[in-house]
Amino acid sequence: AAPIAIVAAMHEELKALLAQMPDEQRVRVAGRDFWVGHLQGQPVVAVLSRIGKVAAAVTATVLLERFGVRAIVFSGVAGGLAPGVNVGDVVVATELLQHDMDASPLFPKYEVPLMGISRFTADAVISDALAVVAEESLRDPVGLVGQEAADEFGLRSPKVHRGLLISGDRFVSTAAESEALRRHLPKALAVEMEGAAVAQVCHDYGVPFAAMRTISDRADDEAHGDFARFVAEVASRYSLALVGAWLAK
Ligand code: ADE
Repeated sequence: AAPIAIVAAMHEELKALLAQMPDEQRVRVAGRDFWVGHLQGQPVVAVLSRIGKVAAAVTATVLLERFGVRAIVFSGVAGGLAPGVNVGDVVVATELLQHDMDASPLFPKYEVPLMGISRFTADAVISDALAVVAEESLRDPVGLVGQEAADEFGLRSPKVHRGLLISGDRFVSTAAESEALRRHLPKALAVEMEGAAVAQVCHDYGVPFAAMRTISDRADDEAHGDFARFVAEVASRYSLALVGAWLAK
């Protein structure tokens, strides 16, 4: 069967995935390492997308053209925007939009020119399954990340949210900017830098796409925090548990 692509934006996450792959083989394309092998007995290609929409779009295109993947699942971190979307929660996207796309007045703000689309829909079957395993896994955050990390990052009863995820080529790190995004896009749950780009590529190819993101910050003045540590100790464990449980189903 054609493999499923698991794409991470950050090195710490990919490392966690590779540690669970017994047989990965490296294939280098476009300066990226694509890791071909198995996870939970399923054929997968795991890869680092790097950060930003173009990097993610190139990675997705290579996955589709060279590796013939049958679905792409993006796993990573995001900044929480909507009230109640807190650090340690998980967002599973139902729709994705590029918040920095604006060719107005030629096209409506956010619409991808000539596509007539501003919101790309995530695959419902994969997304539903990811949300179910996320609900199960998050019931025991200490079991997932350990007591120390749970205390350090204040993980109490993490929640799973489903809805609009927005992407743009900016790390949102001021309260003013996240406030502006909330005002323009009140439905947006969280912001990151790749998802909607991969969703657009998958739409062009007619291949299912899903995204799960662990909330690492609130996209405000404290958004820089200890990002690498959060990714290594919390987000990587979440994504491994979720993607692993989903593949094992
Ligand atoms: N990924 C994680 N946090 C983010 C933020 N605040 N802005 C953009 N992408 C992010």
